[in-house]
Amino acid sequence: MLSWTDLAATFSVLSVFVLLIHQRKRLIALPNKPAYSEPEPVSRKEKPTTLAQPDPYYDFDLETAHTRNHIYVNKTLRFPYFQTMAHQPMHINDWIEIDKDYAWYIEHKTKVIQEKGKVVVDSLPENDDACAELLETLVDYLPKRFPTLFSPIRKTGIHNKITGEEFVETGHLTGVDALLVVSRLVQDDFLMGKERDDGHVYFSGGLVAFPGFYTLAQYIGQPLEQVHKKIPHFNEKILMSVERTLKRFKEHEPFERTSWSMVDDRNLFLHSIISSQRLQDSTHPKDMWLRMDHQTFRKLPRSNGIIFGVHVMLKRLEDLVETPLVPALLAKIHTDGDRALMDYKEDHVYKERLMPYLQELTKRQLEKGLISEEDLDKVADFRSLVKDGVIPNPQTTLSRPTESEKDEMVSMV
Ligand code: HEM
Repeated sequence: MLSWTDLAATFSVLSVFVLLIHQRKRLIALPNKPAYSEPEPVSRKEKPTTLAQPDPYYDFDLETAHTRNHIYVNKTLRFPYFQTMAHQPMHINDWIEIDKDYAWYIEHKTKVIQEKGKVVVDSLPENDDACAELLETLVDYLPKRFPTLFSPIRKTGIHNKITGEEFVETGHLTGVDALLVVSRLVQDDFLMGKERDDGHVYFSGGLVAFPGFYTLAQYIGQPLEQVHKKIPHFNEKILMSVERTLKRFKEHEPFERTSWSMVDDRNLFLHSIISSQRLQDSTHPKDMWLRMDHQTFRKLPRSNGIIFGVHVMLKRLEDLVETPLVPALLAKIHTDGDRALMDYKEDHVYKERLMPYLQELTKRQLEKGLISEEDLDKVADFRSLVKDGVIPNPQTTLSRPTESEKDEMVSMV
């Protein structure tokens, strides 16, 4: 069997080869767009018995693209706030989202993988075939869903038109080799699970470059009970339902959830707020980030692997000024949410700086007439304030440092 170093070296050679043949080019304009707009998703209530093919997103414009606003589309920020599975069926169009910061994510991911290796990409032998099937699934999905960004190359290859890379033959790749190609295709990470003969689900491998708070190496090979041990109320309250759901759900029943936390920088591998347990003096609360992890769950039909995709999305706090009532909801969660859950989110590190700023944002929303005093009694109903069905979704780019980060860099010189 090849060692990690051999695999990494093989992959580097492969990448260089691909890059030498196919000059890198950034996709700026998308030519020949047919006059389609993104199709309406199928109602969440419909229960299909087979997995539909994704709809082609012909109008996709990478320069301006943003992900859905996960504050609205999933039960991300909720009140009362306590531990639940908080999941819902997922339309297949929503499995992979791509936004204007795609290039930044791929570059950041490449750097993390080069620096951390096995700590962030690994697979147990029982999981290797699922890695191959995950890659196969993406190679099939991406050109169908984003035909202007990806195209198929013969049966098992894929051309990433954004990075200019071509993976001509992927059918023979398994395990970490397959995951390394996955890392060149999408912004998402993938945790992978496998049911063993003892009836429990184990964390069997994956590509986890952007965990923020933990590492893949810390948990690989462990059962879900162990993995979630320090998550408040998890094992007592939801472990049984989680395991039952993961074992029973079928290939055509993908589901999603979105979790959240507050962080202070764009280091998606390990945020500084976690490693240093303090906020930098230069961090203005407007430049803190609401980190949302879009978590997607699919069952792979051939290997029976469970794939748990995680697309990390950061929303700068100042972006929330345009989302009616959400700053007030976030403040309420911090004061009245389940205390053990808030401790797990380490709110003691940032709360003092966050809370006055959330109050300021709420005051600005009152002054602008976006919300009324009465609305403040029902913060959980923030969705009812959406006007004309248009969900506000301002999104500061991650490709440039924030003012606070620039100040921090200056202070270090
Ligand atoms: C293959 C399946 C899964 C794996 C490998 C897995 C793995 C993990 C890991 C590594 C963490 C971070 C632990 C830490 O903070 O140190 C975590 C957190 C968590 N997991 Fe899972 N998990 C799986 C499935 C699920 C499912 C199905 C749910 C619920 C529907 C869930 C709910 C949570 C929650 C609530 C947390 C706390 C952080 C958050 O709010 O997201 N997990 N999981």
